[in-house]
Amino acid sequence: MKISERQSVHGQWSSRWTFIMAATGAAVGLGNIWKFPYLTGQNGGSAFVLVYIVCVAALGIPLMMAEILLGRRGRSTPIRTMQVLAEETNTTQWWQIIGWSGTLAGMLILSYYSVIGGWTLAYIFKSIGGTFNGASGQFAADTFSAFTGSGTILFIWHTVFMVLTMGVVAGGVQGGLEKAVQFLMPTLFILLVLMVGYSMTTGFFGKGLAFLFTPDFSKLTGASMLSAMGQAFFSLSLGMGTIMIYGSYVPRDTSIASTSVAIALADTGVALLAGMAIFPIVFANNLEPGSGPGLIFQTLPVAFGNMTGGQAFGSLFFILLLIAAWTSSISLIEPLVTWLIETYGMTRIKASLYSGIFTWLLGLGTVWSFNRWAELTFLGLTFFDLLDFVTSNLMLPLGGILIALFVGWLMRADSTKAELNIHNPAIYAAWQALVRYIAPVAVFIVLLNAIGLL
Ligand code: TRP
Repeated sequence: MKISERQSVHGQWSSRWTFIMAATGAAVGLGNIWKFPYLTGQNGGSAFVLVYIVCVAALGIPLMMAEILLGRRGRSTPIRTMQVLAEETNTTQWWQIIGWSGTLAGMLILSYYSVIGGWTLAYIFKSIGGTFNGASGQFAADTFSAFTGSGTILFIWHTVFMVLTMGVVAGGVQGGLEKAVQFLMPTLFILLVLMVGYSMTTGFFGKGLAFLFTPDFSKLTGASMLSAMGQAFFSLSLGMGTIMIYGSYVPRDTSIASTSVAIALADTGVALLAGMAIFPIVFANNLEPGSGPGLIFQTLPVAFGNMTGGQAFGSLFFILLLIAAWTSSISLIEPLVTWLIETYGMTRIKASLYSGIFTWLLGLGTVWSFNRWAELTFLGLTFFDLLDFVTSNLMLPLGGILIALFVGWLMRADSTKAELNIHNPAIYAAWQALVRYIAPVAVFIVLLNAIGLL
């Protein structure tokens, strides 16, 4: 079959615009609004932000192009795509490891992502019920620790979030994904801008901006650089096959380069806006920037509780955050679900059910790592911390290196040229240099540096 006739059996986006919406929906999620601010706070602010932005531009965009390209050429699940493309390039089937590790990483990430998605759900109801009206920083912090301290409550919300996710996944690309991703992303963006507006009134906006943007390199350590790089991969959904599988549904006439740039800009824009909204509130209320995964759940309620119309606004905000988390969570499990369909001939519904139950079970480890198992640590990390570290900081960057090496060195230049369809030779050469040399070397250096070997 000619490559131009290859199509994914799992579906096709109805237009370039749907693909942008879907990929942006996958990229923009808890990673931007929950994780980016708390990591920034834990890693001392500006220097972390700078490394993150450099990683998005220099590694993220070229690797996203590489992943879409692989997906569109292979037109299948990440595992099968790598198998087909390894054959096509006459190289070893070991490259399938990209697909395997990615499929596994997606499931591991979803297991804890769903728990945090559950927090968002619970906070919708707390906001609607007026829990935060007039809240102080202390009150918000106490509410949060009482909430996460209950294994049973987290268990329930994790379960609800997982059911929501698998429900959409079971519906398939056209029925489920497309409809879900067309939702309300722009509204979330506007709400964030309004939150930044509120932060300007706290009197601590300048301090928040300085924290985010005045580089203080004394705060930069090997570990914080690794975490900034891991966050760039996480936030853009790179290195695990999400983008590859979404790429497999992309129509042939879509420009891969400009689409990748658009997705990266939107994603980074949302993360920076979230930071600008949250840190002024942190400083105005004497909260701790490095307080960890609870940061937005301890700061935003204080703002909502003390602004006019905050009850409605806060409820709306958490609803939109839920939707952002939802469009990301479906992308995390899509590689596993389609692989089960392809390999065992399951129906989409059955494949979703199995994947969902398994991931849900694994998620219980994260549920309990905030209460029952909080003291149970390995190398000082709880179950949740460990899972996050291994996936974001190791599996995604390593997956990214392998993708870069495969696309940069093994695929023939005429194939990559044909897929990317970049007319300007200088831009193609720059992309090639980035995936061949810069991305693999940079990821490697950051990893070695973080384990203290450099
Ligand atoms: N990028 C999403 C977020 O920021 C999460 C996500 C979706 C993801 N798909 C992924 C992370 C694939 C890593 C890999 O919330």
